[in-house]
Amino acid sequence: MAKVLPISSSQLSIFFILSFFTITFVAGESYGYARTLDRKLYNLKKEKLSHFRLFWHDTYSGKNPSAVKVVSSPTNSSTLFGAISMIDDPLTEGPELSSKLVGKAQGMYASAAQEEFGLMMVMNFVFMEGKYNGSTITILGRNKVFSDVREMPVIGGSGLFRYARGYVHASTSKNDMTTGDAVVEYNIYVLHY
Ligand SMILES: *[C@@H]1O[C@H](CO)[C@@H](O)[C@H](O)[C@H]1NC(C)=O
Ligand SMILES: *[C@@H]1O[C@H](CO)[C@@H](O)[C@H](O)[C@H]1NC(C)=O
Repeated sequence: MAKVLPISSSQLSIFFILSFFTITFVAGESYGYARTLDRKLYNLKKEKLSHFRLFWHDTYSGKNPSAVKVVSSPTNSSTLFGAISMIDDPLTEGPELSSKLVGKAQGMYASAAQEEFGLMMVMNFVFMEGKYNGSTITILGRNKVFSDVREMPVIGGSGLFRYARGYVHASTSKNDMTTGDAVVEYNIYVLHY
């Protein structure tokens, strides 16, 4: 059994006095270009967890492709190592492209693996709807596209998603191997204020 040492009230008050001086001293260190802000004044009181379920439409075919290959693989590898595509993909509420448009996935992805087919994704999900209009979530991660569920980090955001962090789970719902067109379900779990 651990023995609990009794602490007298005078010991306690010495402790509080010492911590008070330490805090004052540290906070008192001043730089002209930096200062500590009261987070309450910036509306950063309570962090929320939000979930979004969106469908990402990557279309190479047709007259209005939302994805374009900007660099072809300079090697002839089966994993297309080195290929880069730029995207401005619609994000919709349902799996059909005709369902409600909620935002766009703007960014690029590159074949970053030599041994298997794996992409490095760099995307800003820009919301275009309701209170989220104009706010963005930034996703950067590894996408092993032939796995059932791929997890990628949410590394930040803007607007309503300032200070965002979290992850997405991406799973392919449709994939046309001839055209390269794909529909992917994105489940986004994000902490923000
Ligand atoms: C890739 O293949 C093409 C034709 O099949 C060939 O002309 C080219 O030299 C190859 N490139 C490399 C880097 O092997
Ligand atoms: C979103 O914001 C833009 C301006 O930033 C505005 O033109 C547009 O109508 C808004 N859309 C919705 C659905 O509120």
